[in-house]
Amino acid sequence: MSVIKGFVFDAFGTLLDISSIDQKLVWEFGNKGIELGTTWRSKQLEYSWLCQIMERYQPFSHITRAALQYALNKCAIEVDDRKVTDLANIYGQLPAFEDVAPTLQFLAQRYQLAVLSNGDSRMLQEALSFNKLHDQFDFVLSADEVEQFKPSPKIYELAVEKLEVTKEEIAFVSSNAWDATGAKNFGFRVFWINRKHLPFEQLGVEPDLVLGQLQDLTTNEDIAPF
Ligand code: 2OP
Repeated sequence: MSVIKGFVFDAFGTLLDISSIDQKLVWEFGNKGIELGTTWRSKQLEYSWLCQIMERYQPFSHITRAALQYALNKCAIEVDDRKVTDLANIYGQLPAFEDVAPTLQFLAQRYQLAVLSNGDSRMLQEALSFNKLHDQFDFVLSADEVEQFKPSPKIYELAVEKLEVTKEEIAFVSSNAWDATGAKNFGFRVFWINRKHLPFEQLGVEPDLVLGQLQDLTTNEDIAPF
């Protein structure tokens, strides 16, 4: 098996804790906030995949706002445009999981580090700066650069080009099973962070390693050459 030369991370749900959105929505909208949050997230992903299949790229911040508007309509919640924008902007202020900073500091001593996200550049810059994580990465790679969304192989290829290594030398880390599936299908070595003890996708593609939390990357004996 090839030596790992770079770690490439998904952003939303992997480095950044999107569950904090649900708490805010419940605080704002009571019980309807739960359905609102669930519908928003699933529609956001669905819209990204729909745009990918239709070959009509739109920045993820647009998709996120459109998905929120759909979810508000579904939940019969009426708010003005300014409120929709304020809510959508939560994505720039998501907290990182607690183990993110120490894990990145540890890995940065040995490897190139990158983010590879469907998020557009502005969203990513905002969210990483909000958590003071920006300097930890050699590359912050956005779907904007190729106008393709994961799980298209074309966006995973961007990491290979930027890091100047082979796909087998990249360890791709994601909490999103759909993303881990896409990354493995592309040919990365894939570490799935399964914080929620969920089943993996049943598409005949398996991650190389399943870890319970991000900081397990710093201690796991299977990850050579620690
Ligand atoms: C990403 O950061 C949306 O979680 C997905 O690419």
